[in-house]
Amino acid sequence: MPANLSSDQQTALDSALAAFDGDEHQLIKAINDQVNFVRPTARQPSRHQPTGPAIIELRDISRRYKMSKSQQISAVTNVSLTMAEHEFVAITGASGSGKSTLLNLIGGLDKPDTGTITVAGHDLTKLSDSALSRYRGQTVGFVFQFFYLQPFLNVSRNLEVPAMFRHMPAAQRSSQLKTLAEAVGLSDRLQHLPNELSGGQMQRAAIARALVNQPRILLADEPTGNLDSANASAIIDLFHHVRDHFGTTVIIVTHDAKIASSADRVITMHDGE
Ligand SMILES: Nc1ncnc2c1ncn2[C@@H]1O[C@H](COP(=O)(O)OP(=O)(O)OP(=O)(O)O)[C@@H](O)[C@H]1O
Ligand SMILES: [Mg+2]
Repeated sequence: MPANLSSDQQTALDSALAAFDGDEHQLIKAINDQVNFVRPTARQPSRHQPTGPAIIELRDISRRYKMSKSQQISAVTNVSLTMAEHEFVAITGASGSGKSTLLNLIGGLDKPDTGTITVAGHDLTKLSDSALSRYRGQTVGFVFQFFYLQPFLNVSRNLEVPAMFRHMPAAQRSSQLKTLAEAVGLSDRLQHLPNELSGGQMQRAAIARALVNQPRILLADEPTGNLDSANASAIIDLFHHVRDHFGTTVIIVTHDAKIASSADRVITMHDGE
C-alpha cells in the first residue's frame, strides 16, 4: 500500500469530501477512485455492574460453512445467550472455537443458518439487506485487531466518514468529533495521517470512529492483539470509559486474560458451543 497520495489525488479527495451533499454513493466512489478502501463496504473489577434490560438475545444460533457436498464446518453450534444493556462482555476460547463468527453474527456481518438474533427488539434474521446495513451503520460500532483506518485520510476525516454516511449534519459531526477525540485522548492528533500515529493511537482513533454514530453496542475482535501490554491496558481502560461514559454495551473477543478479568462476564467458546 503506498504511504501517501499524490498531491493531485489528495486535492481530489479533499474536494470530494468538502463537496459532500448527502450522496454517500458519490462519496464512496470519490474515495475509491483515489485509494484502495481497506475495508469493504489486570484491572480492578468493573465499576459498573450491568443493570439494564436485555439488548441482545441469541436463540439456538448455528452457523455452518459448507466446504463441499460431504464436508461442512460447524463454526457456531446451538448458542443461546443474552446480553444486558451496558454490559461489558468478554468472549474467549481457543483459536477456531467460533468467537469471530459469533461476533460477526451479532454485528449483522453474517447470518446464522438456524436460530434467531434479536437486538434492541429487532430480529436480525428477518431484516432486509438495506435494514441490516442501517443496523450495522447505526446500532453497532466495530473495532478490529488491525484498525483498518483509511490511510489517506487524516484522523479527523477517518472519524467523520461514518457520520457522513449516516447524513449527520456538519455541526453535529464536528461536535461529535471533538467529544470523541477528547474521550480517546487524540485532540492534538486530528490532522495526522494514520501512519503518523503510534499503534495505540491508531487503535484509539479506530475506537473513536466506531463510536461516531453513537452506537448502542460496540463490538471488538481482538482489539489489543496488535499492541504491547502498556497500550493494551490503555485500550481496555478506554473501553471501560466508553461503557461508563456513553452507556455503550461492549463485547470484546480476546485471548488476553487481563481483559477478560476486567469484564462483567466472560463467555468461553469451545468448538462452536
Ligand atoms: N469463511 C469460512 N469458511 C469456512 N470455514 C470458516 C470460515 N470462517 C471461519 N471458518 C471456520 O469456522 C471455525 C470458527 O472460526 P472463527 O474465525 O470464528 O474462530 P475464532 O474463535 O475467531 O478463532 P481465532 O481465535 O483464531 O480468531 C474455524 O474452524 C474456522 O476454520
Ligand atoms: Mg477470530
